[in-house]
Amino acid sequence: MELRINQKAYQVDADADTPLLWVIRDDLGLTGTKYGCGLAQCGACSVLVDGNVVRSCVTPVAGVVGREITTIEAIETDEVGKRVVATWVEHQVAQCGYCQSGQVMAATALLKHTPAPSKAQIDAAMINLCRCGTYNAIHAAVDDLAKQGGV
Ligand code: FES
Ligand code: FES
Repeated sequence: MELRINQKAYQVDADADTPLLWVIRDDLGLTGTKYGCGLAQCGACSVLVDGNVVRSCVTPVAGVVGREITTIEAIETDEVGKRVVATWVEHQVAQCGYCQSGQVMAATALLKHTPAPSKAQIDAAMINLCRCGTYNAIHAAVDDLAKQGGV
């Protein structure tokens, strides 16, 4: 099957129900997207599919054929994603970094759909887990972006 990832076409030989995460990491070598729980709980595997955040560990690859997938490797080609990454750096959000590609994906999807989210909207969208406890820094960064009215 053919997948569109980061504005590029990839031919993939995989069973229809193979998780998208396996294909992205193991077949295509795009290892910025992380495996955490494999159970749709942590968000480390988050990618964008047509601009919406999706947990790729539980997304069958056949379900995203013909759709535009964006991974962390290309998030800065998106105007909103670029601003999110810059703000993450300004706020020095990352500690070990393992969860952060998923966090950036969640923030980018939120701000693309809702450029100036309320605190409640931020709380509802930023639910990925972080074992290092960077939640305060994540919320400070998204608050900052929200105050700018998005990007
Ligand atoms: S690895 Fe997908 S949600 Fe945890
Ligand atoms: S920065 Fe380490 S798990 Fe989030």
